[in-house]
Amino acid sequence: MKKIAVYPGSFDPITYGHLDIIKRGLKVFDHVIVAVACNSQKNALFTFDERVDLIREVLKDESRVTVDTFTGLLIDYVAASEASVIIRGLRAISDFEYEYQISQMNSSIGKGVETLFMMTSLQYGYLSSSIVKEVCSLNGNIDGFVPPEVKKALRLKYRLD
Ligand code: COA
Repeated sequence: MKKIAVYPGSFDPITYGHLDIIKRGLKVFDHVIVAVACNSQKNALFTFDERVDLIREVLKDESRVTVDTFTGLLIDYVAASEASVIIRGLRAISDFEYEYQISQMNSSIGKGVETLFMMTSLQYGYLSSSIVKEVCSLNGNIDGFVPPEVKKALRLKYRLD
C-alpha cells in the first residue's frame, strides 16, 4: 500500500522552506499531496489559483507530488483523500504551541489521522512567506528564499519589473 501524506498550508507564496519539507517528506512517503488552503483568515497577496499554479510550476518535475486545494476543515479533506498523515514543518519554539493545538484538535475530530512534524532546516528556520513578501516589496534580494518562478511572480505583483 502506498504511503501518502498531505502537506497543507496557505503557500502565499511557496518558499524554499516549504520545498525543503516537501522534499524531505518524500523520503518518508511515496507520495505527497500539497494542499492549498483557502484560508479566509489570511489576507493573501496571490489568488488561490495563482498560488496553485506557482506550486505546480515549481514542482513540475516531481512526479510523486500532486497539488490540490481545499476549503473547510483540513481533517475533512484528509479523511476524503487517500492519505492518513498530515505533514507540518516546525520552525521554532514559537510554532509549537499553535501546531500542538491544531494537531490535538485534528486528532480528536478526525480519528485515525496522524500529524507528522518535521523540523525546518536551519537555513529556513526564520523564513516565512510574509517576510519574503516584505523584503521583495522593498526591492530586496529574495534569491535565497524562493525559486526564480516565485521571485518573478512576486516582482510582478509589486510592479518592480
Ligand atoms: N519553512 C519556512 N516557512 C514556513 C515553513 C517552512 N518549513 N512552514 C511554514 N512556513 C511559514 C509560511 O510561509 C507561513 O508564513 P506566513 O504566516 O507569513 O504566511 C507560516 O509559516 C505558516 O504557514 P502555513 O504552514 O502555510 O500555515 P498556515 O497558517 O498558513 O495554514 C493550515 C495552516 C492551512 C494548515 C490551517 O489553517 C488549516 O488547516 N486550515 C483549514 C481549516 C481548519 O481545518 N481549521 C481547524 C484546524 S484545527
